Amino acid sequence: MNRAKPIPEQTQRMKLITNVAAMQAEARDARCSGRHLALVPTMGSLHEGHLQLVRRARQEADHVTVSIFVNPTQFAPGEDYERYPRDLDGDMDRLSEVGGADVVYAPPPLAMYEDGSAGLTWVTVDRLTEHLCGPHRDGHFTGVTTIVSKLFNACRPDVAVFGLKDAQQFFVLRRMARDLDFGIRLVGVETVRESDGLAMSSRNRYLSGESREQAVALSRAVFAARDAILAGQHSADDVRALMRVPFGDAPLAEIEYAELVDADYLQPVTELRAGQTVVAAVAVHLGGARLIDNTITEVPSWVQ
Ligand code: PAJ
Repeated sequence: MNRAKPIPEQTQRMKLITNVAAMQAEARDARCSGRHLALVPTMGSLHEGHLQLVRRARQEADHVTVSIFVNPTQFAPGEDYERYPRDLDGDMDRLSEVGGADVVYAPPPLAMYEDGSAGLTWVTVDRLTEHLCGPHRDGHFTGVTTIVSKLFNACRPDVAVFGLKDAQQFFVLRRMARDLDFGIRLVGVETVRESDGLAMSSRNRYLSGESREQAVALSRAVFAARDAILAGQHSADDVRALMRVPFGDAPLAEIEYAELVDADYLQPVTELRAGQTVVAAVAVHLGGARLIDNTITEVPSWVQ
């Protein structure tokens, strides 16, 4: 006999919403009944990093929406939009393992964009997108800020939770929320890592064998930068050079950038100043995947 897998209780309690009007009605009702709303935007293929954001959202609010939408407008031409992993059933299961969300908002592309691929209106953040991933991913951040604006307008959260693994994305979105008066508080959550230090990512599944082993160079690079800054290194170029050292053991990795920028405007720094917060960030092509990592560090007060 072919018996259907029982649906866990938490999964049963999660509302699956797939269109904008229904999501707005849900948010309005929840707000009217006095609930505090959190949103965790994702592109699905959920892993422990995403689940950590969901746990945090539950601490911040009593109504949690997880959005799942692989957003076509943030993939540059030639990137992995088509092959990006999609697994809504698996995502629902994984969410139920951490107690579920109140709502999973998973609109199909046609519910988000008239022709399924883009609208005519764009949201763009200047300056913070000039360096790091900005110049290497044509249109990426405009795609992200536009879709997150749409998600904010559909889900109407009080608080939105993002990972600091995508530090530039977090700073860009925080700036957008301030500049456009969204009235939404953005919370950034520490990067969740594998036991060898590799930052968890939906794209890690593209890695295998040697490329997976060599991927540890990214976290070594950004932690080397953090250690040097905390030890009093004040030449930014010396920190940049140190970040490249671990890639000596990763011949398959092609470095896109290894950069040190200030946390306010994400501009390259030259001298490190006491009290300044800096982001050491790397992006690498390895084994068919594009991987990023970063550390955010405050320069010690005793650095001259
Ligand atoms: P996605 O890559 O699915 O990531 C969703 C959220 O999970 C982001 O805030 C990201 O920073 C966070 N995240 C990913 N890996 C993490 C890790 N190892 N530790 C902690 N947090 C982690 O980022 C996006 O989707 C999209 O750009 C999105 C914001 C949803 C807009 O489409």
